[in-house]
Amino acid sequence: MAQVRVLTGDRVTLRQPRLDDADELFAAVASDPEVTRYVTWMPHPDVAETRRVITELFNKGKERTWLIELRDTGEVIGTCGFRVVQPHLREFGYVLGRRWWGQRLIAEVVDLLIAEMESDPKVRRIAAVCHVENTRSARVLERAGLTLEGRLVRHTVFPNIGTEPQDVLQFGKAVE
Ligand SMILES: CC(C)(COP(=O)(O)OP(=O)(O)OC[C@H]1O[C@@H](n2cnc3c(N)ncnc32)[C@H](O)[C@@H]1OP(=O)(O)O)[C@@H](O)C(=O)NCCC(=O)NCCS
Repeated sequence: MAQVRVLTGDRVTLRQPRLDDADELFAAVASDPEVTRYVTWMPHPDVAETRRVITELFNKGKERTWLIELRDTGEVIGTCGFRVVQPHLREFGYVLGRRWWGQRLIAEVVDLLIAEMESDPKVRRIAAVCHVENTRSARVLERAGLTLEGRLVRHTVFPNIGTEPQDVLQFGKAVE
């Protein structure tokens, strides 16, 4: 498993996921169908699946994943990360447990993640997509300084919605 470095904000810490995070991550985030509605994975049926994802998927190959911890309490509140699509291009994503929505915590997470991606001199473009109806996420991306570049039709299958590919909004940001 690749190691990611610790990124510290005012209210959150982003750090390497560990196997012993599985119980909290499962209970607060990965098992909740409201959280997974607009992501490309199904809610985890049990904590064994969360353990498998931590050990077999996180920080493998071209994926980098951080666990999001609330600094005040040390609680596990979500995950975020990026994928190296091409040497100059990163695509990122994030999930927060529902009880932490609406506090602008994700803005801090995204700022830390963008700064980390931009610290690599090879990176010239940072991008993200969200389901057309995921208005919360679209606001997060706009506020973080990404530009809405268009609507990509029939782009992604969201398994919690159905088998038909769905339209997404494409956001991007040039890194000079
Ligand atoms: C997307 C997500 C991280 C946003 O987190 P959050 O804590 O709700 O984010 P914020 O508190 O910054 O709110 C985001 C925006 O949504 C707005 N919002 C709040 N409730 C809303 C609602 N019911 N419908 C639409 N927008 C809403 C907020 O006002 C805010 O906009 P503003 O900055 O213009 O005020 C969180 O909802 C989440 O984890 N969702 C599930 C996973 C997911 O969809 N990930 C993204 C995949 S692309």
